[in-house]
Amino acid sequence: MSENTRQTTFSTFLDEGGSLEEIDWTFKGADTSYLTHGLHNYPARMIPQIPDTLLSYYKLCGVIETGDTVYDPFSGSGTTAVESRLHGLNAQANDINPLACVLSETKACPIPRETLRSLRDDLLSNLRAELHTIREQYQTGTLTFADEPQVRDGWFPEPQLYELWYIRRQLDQAEESYGEDVTQFFRVALSSITRTVSYQRNGEYKRYRLPEEKRKTHDPDVFDLYRSKVAANYKRMRTYSDRVDHSLDTTIHYADSRTATANEENTIEENSADIVITSPPYGDHRTTVAYGQFSQDPAIIAGRYGYDEMKAVDKTGLGGPNSDLKPIEALEEWSPSFGATMDALRETDGRADDAMDFVRDYYEVMNDVAKVLKSGQPSVWVVANRTMSRVNIPTHLITRELCEHVGYEHESTLPREIPTKTLPWENAPENIEGVTGDAMASENIVILTAP
Ligand SMILES: C[S@@+](CC[C@H](N)C(=O)[O-])C[C@H]1O[C@@H](n2cnc3c(N)ncnc32)[C@H](O)[C@@H]1O
Repeated sequence: MSENTRQTTFSTFLDEGGSLEEIDWTFKGADTSYLTHGLHNYPARMIPQIPDTLLSYYKLCGVIETGDTVYDPFSGSGTTAVESRLHGLNAQANDINPLACVLSETKACPIPRETLRSLRDDLLSNLRAELHTIREQYQTGTLTFADEPQVRDGWFPEPQLYELWYIRRQLDQAEESYGEDVTQFFRVALSSITRTVSYQRNGEYKRYRLPEEKRKTHDPDVFDLYRSKVAANYKRMRTYSDRVDHSLDTTIHYADSRTATANEENTIEENSADIVITSPPYGDHRTTVAYGQFSQDPAIIAGRYGYDEMKAVDKTGLGGPNSDLKPIEALEEWSPSFGATMDALRETDGRADDAMDFVRDYYEVMNDVAKVLKSGQPSVWVVANRTMSRVNIPTHLITRELCEHVGYEHESTLPREIPTKTLPWENAPENIEGVTGDAMASENIVILTAP
């Protein structure tokens, strides 16, 4: 269906009294990787159909208009930023994971095809032969690099690790003549194949190695993988770049959303956003989705990020140990659902402290977002209801109640099933493939207007 036909169908649906509640938010079977959404995988990605539908809706209702600004405090791989640009909107976003910032920027900021083509041709024209030489040097013990990739021992087949590293070094050199943005596009393709080349098991976001037997026969062809990923990404970017307005502004900040308006660098301006669409982490990175673990090797190989920086990601995420905030006991009063959850957790195994740390940090973000978002404008929080120690955490109610305490007004909560998500939790007794921990039942789209 063309964009115009889709808009017309949607507008007829609204004219006939259709409401957000009547939409099937599951979008079962929909393509969730169209255009630049498919450049790189990311854990717990929000499906683009959610921001797409909401932005269409709010534009048709006149709540936002072309040229307005969307804010996403948890950018991840940039789904909201991409959809903002597709809808003619500027975007501001934050993430504490440097790889997430790179992905968001690359996916959302269009690059003209001519610029891409010339670096692509430069990079790939001799690459097969160059990688062949790396292989030979490796086999004869004559391979030397001034610096070595700081990845974990035993996680990569050799000489493939050095082939990846060679490409990375070529990109560093190319950056001097082609600039950062264009080079970053090719870094993203390199980051994406880094996981495939490594001994990481498919379908897992945590670090799980292939069993030893499989490692012995894991012999990926780095050149073929890189060439096809570059070709596929090039095609996606070409179509995206032809479709969107290049004059819009998308700014992704490598920053903490608890203090987005107070950061000395990368400050998000108060009262600057017309709408917020975001999907917060489900829980702290240690016990739910370890974004840092997922990103570490790809970011070290393909980007310019060091080991320490990448190690800090899971500690800095909401509820992580790097927070210097104290528990806020009143949260249990302000959100009765959180109070009941804490009581249930105290009766089980004491993970109440973890829940408090997470919700306290999350509450800081709600406060900060209220400063960024213009009064009366919508904020959309796509949240999952996880269980911790078999206790259901009603995140949608906690989000609503705490936002209401801040002064937001609740508009609606729209439930959705999650048809195809890899569930990466630890210690789950259910023995379901891909599920290794606490389970996640469903998501809710919680909509509140700003104070
Ligand atoms: C569920 S993911 C967002 C997924 C994103 N909507 C997408 O479609 O790719 C949550 C993100 O929040 C980020 N995050 C966690 N704590 C943060 C904080 N304090 N400030 C900014 N970002 C944070 C994580 O690094 C992760 O990328």
